[in-house]
Amino acid sequence: MALLITGGAGYIGSHTVVELLEAGQEVIVLDNLANSSRASLQRVAQITGREPQLIEGDVRDARLLDRLFAEHPVEAVVHFAGLKAVGESVRHPLDYYDNNVGGSLALCQAMARAGVRRLAFSSSATVYGAPADMPIPETCPIGIPTNPYGQSKRMVEDMLNDLVASDPRWSIALLRYFNPVGAHPSGLIGEDPDGIPNNLLPYITQVAVGRLERLAVFGDDYPTIDGTGVRDYIHVVDLARGHLAALGFLSTHPGIHAWNLGTGTGYSVLQIIEAFERASGRPVPYTIAPRRPGDVAQCWSDPAKAMRELGWRATLGLDRMMEDAWRWQSGNPAGYAEAD
Ligand code: NAD
Ligand code: UFG
Repeated sequence: MALLITGGAGYIGSHTVVELLEAGQEVIVLDNLANSSRASLQRVAQITGREPQLIEGDVRDARLLDRLFAEHPVEAVVHFAGLKAVGESVRHPLDYYDNNVGGSLALCQAMARAGVRRLAFSSSATVYGAPADMPIPETCPIGIPTNPYGQSKRMVEDMLNDLVASDPRWSIALLRYFNPVGAHPSGLIGEDPDGIPNNLLPYITQVAVGRLERLAVFGDDYPTIDGTGVRDYIHVVDLARGHLAALGFLSTHPGIHAWNLGTGTGYSVLQIIEAFERASGRPVPYTIAPRRPGDVAQCWSDPAKAMRELGWRATLGLDRMMEDAWRWQSGNPAGYAEAD
């Protein structure tokens, strides 16, 4: 039996594919390479000694999905494929609803036709909106996401809840990621954003490697430890391992289950800069800029449910996140571009 990994050539997907291959699983990747390249999977093969099968195509393509399920004995699906840039989602909302909601819908319909009913979905802490109390447990009511990207994640969660209510044979995991950072310790795979990065860590590593001049810290007047935004950064390898734990649980527990995948600890932007400078030995020049619209002051998880039910918890600390992010960026200053 095999696992279908949509979006498996991307940042989180490629790290999860490594963990799955190393655990002896058969993996099929479906990716349209809209935000990734074949190079990441070639690097995965270098790390694991096994080349995952890539089917280049779109998760919204119903005929392709029917053929894929007919030709391969898929027992479960991990659904990473989608668009993820918050600012772009505000400018092009229809693209986000089309890809993220339409893609998930087409996938679930094809899974239903094929009788494959086990699914792990990449959700996000963004579905909680801006709760007043930290840390955030899964029982925290779903909030009102402040952008179409977050709204698309919320809509898919709603759809999956309705699906399980209609047919209890499904087993579905809603994996709510906090802030994935870092890279595989080999330095062979990592985050390779297209254009100027939106997220903090890739921005910092590109400043350190000389691709960008200086970081803008968005706001230093939040009610936090030092006035800058606080987030729950989680090493992408820990996050990837959370998927294996969730898939194991789903095989014996039908129904729908939400889990936070975070560390339970928040760090401010200034603490991240300091930790990165320590790990890399490089200075990160920055200026204080106005707050970024839509940002919350703070966001960190209560990860106890995943620990209790999955036996999973994050084990790689902040220093490892920074060291591994730097090993990837310094070894691949232009990301995968050189490998293409
Ligand atoms: P990514 O862009 O690196 O990976 C997504 C992959 O999906 C890419 O390889 C892209 O080519 C592919 N893809 C996009 N649309 C597709 C389509 N229609 N058909 C087939 N393939 C398609 O992003 P990532 O950071 O690895 O994120 C993976 C998932 O996790 C996404 O659903 C994202 O929304 C979610 N998530 C990410 C973060 C984060 O900070 N990185 C946080 C929370 C949730
Ligand atoms: N930040 C800066 N300068 C930058 C980029 C970010 O100061 O150039 C700050 C932000 O203001 C925030 C922190 O760094 O305080 C983290 O910002 P990111 O953009 O890295 O991450 P976000 O928490 O804003 O967003 C991430 C994902 C979203 C997801 C969200 C919810 O990118 O996809 O987490 O968990 F929805």
